[in-house]
Amino acid sequence: MTGETGAKTCRAVAVGIGHYLPERVVPNSEFEAMVDTSDEWIRARSGIERRHFAAEGETTSDLGIKAAQAALDNAGLTPGDIDAIIVATSTPDLTFPSVATMIQAGLGMRHGFAFDVQAVCAGFIYALSTANAFILSGQANRVLVIGAETFSRIMDWEDRTTCVLFGDGAGALILEAGDGDGSNADRGILAVDLHSDGQFRDLLYVDGGVSRTQSSGVLKMEGKEVFRHAVEKLAQTAHTALDRAGLGADDVDWIVPHQANLRIITRTAQKMGVGMDRVIVTVQDHGNTSAASIPLALSVGVAQGHIKPGDLLVAEAIGGGLAWGSAVLRW
Ligand code: UT7
Repeated sequence: MTGETGAKTCRAVAVGIGHYLPERVVPNSEFEAMVDTSDEWIRARSGIERRHFAAEGETTSDLGIKAAQAALDNAGLTPGDIDAIIVATSTPDLTFPSVATMIQAGLGMRHGFAFDVQAVCAGFIYALSTANAFILSGQANRVLVIGAETFSRIMDWEDRTTCVLFGDGAGALILEAGDGDGSNADRGILAVDLHSDGQFRDLLYVDGGVSRTQSSGVLKMEGKEVFRHAVEKLAQTAHTALDRAGLGADDVDWIVPHQANLRIITRTAQKMGVGMDRVIVTVQDHGNTSAASIPLALSVGVAQGHIKPGDLLVAEAIGGGLAWGSAVLRW
Protein backbone atom coordinates (compact mmCIF):
# COMPACT_ATOMS: atom_id res chain seq x y z
CA MET A 1 0.00 0.00 0.00
CA THR A 2 1.31 3.44 -0.88
CA GLY A 3 -0.35 6.70 0.05
CA GLU A 4 1.84 9.25 -1.72
CA THR A 5 1.39 9.65 -5.47
CA GLY A 6 3.49 12.76 -5.78
CA ALA A 7 0.80 14.21 -8.03
CA LYS A 8 -1.02 17.51 -7.71
CA THR A 9 -4.33 15.66 -7.46
CA CYS A 10 -4.87 11.99 -6.71
CA ARG A 11 -7.62 10.27 -8.75
CA ALA A 12 -9.07 6.77 -8.47
CA VAL A 13 -8.55 5.56 -12.03
CA ALA A 14 -10.14 2.47 -13.63
CA VAL A 15 -7.42 0.08 -14.80
CA GLY A 16 -9.31 -3.18 -15.26
CA ILE A 17 -12.83 -4.50 -15.71
CA GLY A 18 -14.36 -7.96 -16.00
CA HIS A 19 -17.50 -9.95 -15.38
CA TYR A 20 -18.92 -13.40 -14.97
CA LEU A 21 -22.40 -14.72 -15.70
CA PRO A 22 -23.58 -18.20 -14.64
CA GLU A 23 -23.90 -20.67 -17.49
CA ARG A 24 -27.64 -21.24 -17.25
CA VAL A 25 -29.64 -18.79 -19.39
CA VAL A 26 -33.35 -18.58 -18.56
CA PRO A 27 -35.59 -17.11 -21.27
CA ASN A 28 -38.88 -15.36 -20.37
CA SER A 29 -40.80 -18.31 -21.81
CA GLU A 30 -39.68 -20.50 -18.87
CA PHE A 31 -41.81 -18.41 -16.50
CA GLU A 32 -44.98 -19.01 -18.55
CA ALA A 33 -45.22 -22.52 -17.05
CA MET A 34 -44.64 -21.27 -13.49
CA VAL A 35 -46.82 -18.17 -13.10
CA ASP A 36 -49.55 -16.31 -15.01
CA THR A 37 -47.25 -14.27 -17.26
CA SER A 38 -46.03 -14.03 -20.84
CA ASP A 39 -42.86 -13.25 -22.74
CA GLU A 40 -44.73 -10.27 -24.26
CA TRP A 41 -45.64 -8.78 -20.85
CA ILE A 42 -42.13 -9.14 -19.46
CA ARG A 43 -40.52 -7.59 -22.58
CA ALA A 44 -43.03 -4.75 -22.83
CA ARG A 45 -43.00 -3.79 -19.12
CA SER A 46 -39.33 -4.35 -18.27
CA GLY A 47 -37.29 -4.84 -21.46
CA ILE A 48 -36.01 -8.15 -20.07
CA GLU A 49 -35.69 -11.08 -22.50
CA ARG A 50 -33.49 -13.49 -20.55
CA ARG A 51 -31.38 -13.70 -17.39
CA HIS A 52 -28.73 -16.03 -15.94
CA PHE A 53 -29.33 -18.18 -12.86
CA ALA A 54 -26.55 -19.65 -10.72
CA ALA A 55 -26.31 -23.45 -10.64
CA GLU A 56 -27.18 -25.34 -7.49
CA GLY A 57 -24.33 -24.83 -5.05
CA GLU A 58 -22.88 -21.93 -7.04
CA THR A 59 -22.57 -19.00 -4.64
CA THR A 60 -22.20 -15.24 -4.85
CA SER A 61 -18.49 -15.51 -3.98
CA ASP A 62 -18.00 -18.09 -6.78
CA LEU A 63 -19.35 -15.55 -9.27
CA GLY A 64 -17.31 -12.76 -7.67
CA ILE A 65 -14.05 -14.72 -7.84
CA LYS A 66 -14.51 -15.32 -11.58
CA ALA A 67 -15.36 -11.65 -12.21
CA ALA A 68 -12.34 -10.56 -10.13
CA GLN A 69 -10.03 -12.89 -12.07
CA ALA A 70 -11.35 -11.45 -15.35
CA ALA A 71 -10.72 -7.88 -14.12
CA LEU A 72 -7.19 -8.77 -12.94
CA ASP A 73 -6.43 -10.36 -16.34
CA ASN A 74 -7.85 -7.28 -18.08
CA ALA A 75 -5.58 -5.01 -16.01
CA GLY A 76 -2.52 -7.28 -16.34
CA LEU A 77 -2.35 -7.50 -12.53
CA THR A 78 -2.21 -10.30 -9.97
CA PRO A 79 -3.94 -10.54 -6.55
CA GLY A 80 -0.60 -9.49 -5.04
CA ASP A 81 -1.10 -6.04 -6.58
CA ILE A 82 -4.41 -5.42 -4.78
CA ASP A 83 -4.63 -3.65 -1.39
CA ALA A 84 -8.35 -4.00 -0.67
CA ILE A 85 -11.50 -5.76 -1.87
CA ILE A 86 -14.92 -4.16 -1.49
CA VAL A 87 -17.94 -6.25 -2.49
CA ALA A 88 -21.41 -4.79 -2.98
CA THR A 89 -23.98 -7.51 -2.36
CA SER A 90 -27.30 -8.22 -0.66
CA THR A 91 -27.09 -11.97 -1.27
CA PRO A 92 -24.01 -13.13 0.66
CA ASP A 93 -23.01 -16.81 0.76
CA LEU A 94 -23.46 -16.76 4.56
CA THR A 95 -24.56 -14.19 7.11
CA PHE A 96 -20.86 -13.79 7.86
CA PRO A 97 -17.99 -13.67 7.07
CA SER A 98 -18.23 -11.24 4.19
CA VAL A 99 -18.31 -12.32 0.56
CA ALA A 100 -15.25 -10.07 0.16
CA THR A 101 -13.15 -12.26 2.49
CA MET A 102 -14.33 -15.37 0.64
CA ILE A 103 -13.24 -13.80 -2.65
CA GLN A 104 -9.95 -12.77 -1.01
CA ALA A 105 -9.35 -16.41 -0.02
CA GLY A 106 -10.47 -17.64 -3.46
CA LEU A 107 -7.90 -15.39 -5.10
CA GLY A 108 -5.20 -16.71 -2.75
CA MET A 109 -4.72 -13.24 -1.24
CA ARG A 110 -3.28 -13.24 2.28
CA HIS A 111 -2.64 -9.49 2.67
CA GLY A 112 -4.74 -6.34 2.62
CA PHE A 113 -8.35 -6.07 3.79
CA ALA A 114 -11.77 -7.03 2.46
CA PHE A 115 -15.36 -6.20 3.42
CA ASP A 116 -18.91 -5.99 2.03
CA VAL A 117 -21.13 -2.98 1.42
CA GLN A 118 -24.90 -3.43 1.47
CA ALA A 119 -26.94 -0.78 -0.33
CA VAL A 120 -28.98 -3.22 -2.45
CA CYS A 121 -29.25 -2.08 -6.11
CA ALA A 122 -27.29 1.11 -5.36
CA GLY A 123 -24.54 -1.01 -3.76
CA PHE A 124 -21.99 -0.68 -6.54
CA ILE A 125 -22.20 3.14 -6.46
CA TYR A 126 -21.72 3.04 -2.67
CA ALA A 127 -18.77 0.63 -3.03
CA LEU A 128 -17.22 2.82 -5.74
CA SER A 129 -17.56 5.86 -3.51
CA THR A 130 -15.98 3.96 -0.58
CA ALA A 131 -13.07 2.76 -2.74
CA ASN A 132 -12.58 6.30 -4.03
CA ALA A 133 -12.35 7.59 -0.44
CA PHE A 134 -9.76 4.92 0.50
CA ILE A 135 -7.65 5.83 -2.52
CA LEU A 136 -7.91 9.61 -2.07
CA SER A 137 -7.02 9.29 1.63
CA GLY A 138 -3.96 7.20 0.77
CA GLN A 139 -5.21 4.18 2.73
CA ALA A 140 -5.13 1.96 -0.36
CA ASN A 141 -3.43 2.21 -3.72
CA ARG A 142 -5.42 -0.39 -5.67
CA VAL A 143 -8.93 -1.50 -4.80
CA LEU A 144 -10.92 -4.33 -6.37
CA VAL A 145 -14.57 -3.22 -6.38
CA ILE A 146 -17.03 -6.02 -7.06
CA GLY A 147 -20.81 -6.21 -7.46
CA ALA A 148 -21.96 -9.84 -7.07
CA GLU A 149 -25.44 -11.24 -6.56
CA THR A 150 -27.53 -14.40 -6.61
CA PHE A 151 -31.01 -12.84 -6.45
CA SER A 152 -32.48 -16.13 -7.73
CA ARG A 153 -32.00 -17.35 -4.13
CA ILE A 154 -34.41 -14.77 -2.67
CA MET A 155 -37.25 -15.01 -5.20
CA ASP A 156 -40.82 -15.95 -4.36
CA TRP A 157 -41.46 -18.23 -7.37
CA GLU A 158 -45.22 -17.77 -6.99
CA ASP A 159 -45.05 -13.95 -7.19
CA ARG A 160 -45.25 -13.03 -10.87
CA THR A 161 -44.67 -9.34 -10.07
CA THR A 162 -41.08 -10.01 -8.93
CA CYS A 163 -39.78 -13.45 -9.96
CA VAL A 164 -39.55 -12.56 -13.66
CA LEU A 165 -37.38 -9.50 -13.08
CA PHE A 166 -34.14 -10.59 -11.41
CA GLY A 167 -30.98 -12.45 -12.39
CA ASP A 168 -27.57 -13.53 -11.09
CA GLY A 169 -24.08 -12.32 -12.03
CA ALA A 170 -20.98 -10.42 -11.01
CA GLY A 171 -18.84 -7.58 -12.31
CA ALA A 172 -15.49 -6.30 -11.04
CA LEU A 173 -13.62 -3.05 -11.49
CA ILE A 174 -10.07 -2.27 -10.38
CA LEU A 175 -9.39 1.30 -9.26
CA GLU A 176 -5.83 2.57 -8.87
CA ALA A 177 -4.36 5.79 -7.50
CA GLY A 178 -3.35 7.90 -10.47
CA ASP A 179 -2.04 11.38 -11.19
CA GLY A 180 -4.42 14.16 -12.17
CA ASP A 181 -4.19 17.92 -12.53
CA GLY A 182 -7.44 18.47 -10.66
CA SER A 183 -9.46 19.35 -13.77
CA ASN A 184 -12.47 17.43 -15.07
CA ALA A 185 -10.31 16.28 -17.99
CA ASP A 186 -8.57 13.91 -15.53
CA ARG A 187 -9.10 10.18 -15.87
CA GLY A 188 -10.78 8.55 -12.86
CA ILE A 189 -13.67 9.28 -10.52
CA LEU A 190 -14.55 12.97 -10.80
CA ALA A 191 -17.61 13.11 -8.52
CA VAL A 192 -20.03 10.97 -6.55
CA ASP A 193 -23.46 11.63 -5.05
CA LEU A 194 -25.12 9.32 -2.51
CA HIS A 195 -28.57 9.40 -0.90
CA SER A 196 -30.88 7.22 1.15
CA ASP A 197 -34.28 7.70 2.75
CA GLY A 198 -35.33 4.91 5.11
CA GLN A 199 -38.92 6.08 5.33
CA PHE A 200 -39.37 4.15 2.05
CA ARG A 201 -37.89 0.89 3.41
CA ASP A 202 -41.19 -1.00 2.91
CA LEU A 203 -41.30 -0.40 -0.86
CA LEU A 204 -38.58 -2.96 -1.57
CA TYR A 205 -37.31 -5.42 1.03
CA VAL A 206 -36.65 -9.06 1.85
CA ASP A 207 -39.06 -10.45 4.45
CA GLY A 208 -36.48 -12.48 6.37
CA GLY A 209 -33.22 -11.91 8.15
CA VAL A 210 -31.00 -12.96 11.02
CA SER A 211 -32.37 -10.74 13.74
CA ARG A 212 -36.07 -10.77 12.91
CA THR A 213 -36.86 -14.21 11.47
CA GLN A 214 -33.64 -16.26 11.57
CA SER A 215 -34.25 -17.07 7.90
CA SER A 216 -33.21 -15.49 4.61
CA GLY A 217 -36.69 -14.57 3.29
CA VAL A 218 -37.95 -13.56 -0.15
CA LEU A 219 -38.05 -10.28 -2.03
CA LYS A 220 -41.14 -8.06 -1.82
CA MET A 221 -41.59 -5.00 -4.02
CA GLU A 222 -44.15 -2.27 -4.65
CA GLY A 223 -42.96 -2.05 -8.26
CA LYS A 224 -45.05 0.91 -9.35
CA GLU A 225 -43.94 3.05 -6.39
CA VAL A 226 -40.26 2.14 -6.82
CA PHE A 227 -40.64 2.98 -10.52
CA ARG A 228 -42.02 6.43 -9.63
CA HIS A 229 -39.14 7.17 -7.25
CA ALA A 230 -36.57 5.88 -9.74
CA VAL A 231 -37.72 8.15 -12.54
CA GLU A 232 -37.74 11.15 -10.19
CA LYS A 233 -34.48 10.52 -8.33
CA LEU A 234 -32.05 9.06 -10.89
CA ALA A 235 -31.83 12.03 -13.26
CA GLN A 236 -31.60 14.31 -10.22
CA THR A 237 -28.62 12.51 -8.70
CA ALA A 238 -26.87 12.26 -12.07
CA HIS A 239 -27.26 16.02 -12.58
CA THR A 240 -25.91 16.71 -9.07
CA ALA A 241 -22.82 14.55 -9.65
CA LEU A 242 -22.18 16.12 -13.07
CA ASP A 243 -22.59 19.58 -11.58
CA ARG A 244 -20.13 18.71 -8.82
CA ALA A 245 -17.61 17.75 -11.53
CA GLY A 246 -18.28 21.01 -13.41
CA LEU A 247 -19.80 19.08 -16.31
CA GLY A 248 -23.17 18.90 -18.07
CA ALA A 249 -25.26 16.38 -20.02
CA ASP A 250 -23.56 17.37 -23.31
CA ASP A 251 -20.24 16.17 -21.90
CA VAL A 252 -21.56 12.65 -21.22
CA ASP A 253 -20.31 9.95 -23.59
CA TRP A 254 -22.12 7.07 -21.84
CA ILE A 255 -24.74 6.67 -19.17
CA VAL A 256 -24.12 3.33 -17.45
CA PRO A 257 -27.40 2.87 -15.56
CA HIS A 258 -28.55 0.29 -13.07
CA GLN A 259 -30.36 -2.26 -15.25
CA ALA A 260 -33.76 -2.71 -13.58
CA ASN A 261 -36.19 -1.70 -16.28
CA LEU A 262 -35.72 -0.40 -19.83
CA ARG A 263 -38.52 2.13 -19.29
CA ILE A 264 -36.72 3.60 -16.25
CA ILE A 265 -33.44 3.70 -18.20
CA THR A 266 -35.11 5.45 -21.16
CA ARG A 267 -36.99 8.01 -19.06
CA THR A 268 -33.89 8.83 -17.01
CA ALA A 269 -31.87 9.41 -20.19
CA GLN A 270 -34.69 11.59 -21.58
CA LYS A 271 -34.79 13.66 -18.38
CA MET A 272 -31.02 14.07 -18.52
CA GLY A 273 -31.19 15.12 -22.17
CA VAL A 274 -28.96 12.25 -23.31
CA GLY A 275 -29.91 10.16 -26.38
CA MET A 276 -30.36 6.40 -26.06
CA ASP A 277 -27.41 5.99 -28.46
CA ARG A 278 -25.28 7.08 -25.49
CA VAL A 279 -26.71 4.60 -22.96
CA ILE A 280 -25.28 1.13 -22.20
CA VAL A 281 -28.24 -1.29 -22.06
CA THR A 282 -27.85 -4.90 -20.94
CA VAL A 283 -31.16 -5.43 -19.12
CA GLN A 284 -32.47 -7.55 -22.02
CA ASP A 285 -29.74 -10.16 -21.39
CA HIS A 286 -29.14 -9.96 -17.62
CA GLY A 287 -32.43 -8.88 -16.01
CA ASN A 288 -32.00 -6.96 -12.77
CA THR A 289 -28.81 -8.21 -11.08
CA SER A 290 -28.98 -5.60 -8.30
CA ALA A 291 -25.47 -4.48 -7.22
CA ALA A 292 -23.89 -6.44 -10.09
CA SER A 293 -25.77 -4.65 -12.84
CA ILE A 294 -23.55 -1.56 -13.25
CA PRO A 295 -20.18 -3.38 -13.32
CA LEU A 296 -21.73 -5.97 -15.66
CA ALA A 297 -22.94 -3.20 -18.00
CA LEU A 298 -19.55 -1.45 -17.78
CA SER A 299 -17.72 -4.66 -18.62
CA VAL A 300 -19.99 -5.45 -21.57
CA GLY A 301 -19.76 -1.83 -22.78
CA VAL A 302 -15.96 -2.00 -22.75
CA ALA A 303 -15.78 -5.51 -24.26
CA GLN A 304 -18.10 -4.46 -27.11
CA GLY A 305 -15.85 -1.47 -27.87
CA HIS A 306 -18.42 1.19 -26.95
CA ILE A 307 -16.62 2.61 -23.90
CA LYS A 308 -13.13 3.88 -24.80
CA PRO A 309 -10.31 5.49 -22.79
CA GLY A 310 -11.11 9.14 -22.09
CA ASP A 311 -14.90 8.68 -22.33
CA LEU A 312 -17.00 10.42 -19.69
CA LEU A 313 -19.35 7.99 -17.93
CA VAL A 314 -22.23 8.58 -15.54
CA ALA A 315 -23.37 5.57 -13.52
CA GLU A 316 -26.64 5.82 -11.56
CA ALA A 317 -28.70 3.40 -9.45
CA ILE A 318 -31.59 3.15 -7.00
CA GLY A 319 -32.94 0.31 -4.89
CA GLY A 320 -34.06 -0.93 -1.49
CA GLY A 321 -33.79 1.53 1.36
CA LEU A 322 -34.50 3.50 -0.65
CA ALA A 323 -30.83 4.09 -1.41
CA TRP A 324 -29.65 5.79 -4.58
CA GLY A 325 -26.70 7.61 -6.06
CA SER A 326 -24.45 8.27 -9.02
CA ALA A 327 -20.82 8.54 -10.00
CA VAL A 328 -19.07 10.49 -12.74
CA LEU A 329 -15.99 8.73 -14.05
CA ARG A 330 -13.64 9.41 -16.93
CA TRP A 331 -12.61 6.01 -18.33
O1 UT7 B 1 -33.64 -2.66 -8.83
C1 UT7 B 1 -34.33 -2.10 -7.77
C2 UT7 B 1 -35.30 -1.14 -8.24
N1 UT7 B 1 -36.42 -1.82 -8.85
C3 UT7 B 1 -37.01 -1.27 -9.87
O2 UT7 B 1 -36.54 -0.27 -10.36
C4 UT7 B 1 -38.28 -1.87 -10.37
C5 UT7 B 1 -39.28 -0.76 -10.57
N2 UT7 B 1 -40.55 -1.18 -11.09
C6 UT7 B 1 -40.75 -1.74 -12.29
O3 UT7 B 1 -39.81 -2.00 -13.01
C7 UT7 B 1 -42.16 -1.95 -12.77
O4 UT7 B 1 -43.04 -1.31 -11.88
C8 UT7 B 1 -42.56 -3.43 -12.92
C9 UT7 B 1 -41.83 -4.05 -14.11
C10 UT7 B 1 -42.23 -4.18 -11.65
C11 UT7 B 1 -44.06 -3.54 -13.21
O5 UT7 B 1 -44.42 -2.74 -14.32
P1 UT7 B 1 -45.68 -1.75 -14.23
O6 UT7 B 1 -45.84 -1.16 -15.55
O7 UT7 B 1 -45.45 -0.84 -13.06
O8 UT7 B 1 -46.86 -2.76 -13.99
P2 UT7 B 1 -47.89 -2.81 -12.80
O9 UT7 B 1 -47.21 -3.22 -11.54
O10 UT7 B 1 -48.69 -1.56 -12.80
O11 UT7 B 1 -48.81 -4.00 -13.30
C12 UT7 B 1 -49.66 -3.87 -14.43
C13 UT7 B 1 -50.50 -5.11 -14.53
C14 UT7 B 1 -51.17 -5.49 -13.21
O12 UT7 B 1 -52.45 -6.01 -13.51
P3 UT7 B 1 -53.76 -5.09 -13.33
O13 UT7 B 1 -53.76 -4.69 -11.86
O14 UT7 B 1 -53.57 -3.94 -14.25
O15 UT7 B 1 -54.86 -6.04 -13.68
C15 UT7 B 1 -50.30 -6.59 -12.67
O16 UT7 B 1 -51.01 -7.47 -11.84
O17 UT7 B 1 -49.66 -6.22 -14.88
C16 UT7 B 1 -49.88 -7.29 -13.94
N3 UT7 B 1 -48.62 -8.01 -13.79
C17 UT7 B 1 -48.26 -9.00 -14.63
N4 UT7 B 1 -48.85 -9.53 -15.71
C18 UT7 B 1 -48.18 -10.49 -16.36
C19 UT7 B 1 -47.66 -7.85 -12.87
N5 UT7 B 1 -46.68 -8.71 -13.07
C20 UT7 B 1 -47.01 -9.44 -14.17
C21 UT7 B 1 -46.37 -10.46 -14.89
N6 UT7 B 1 -46.99 -10.95 -15.97
N7 UT7 B 1 -45.16 -10.95 -14.54
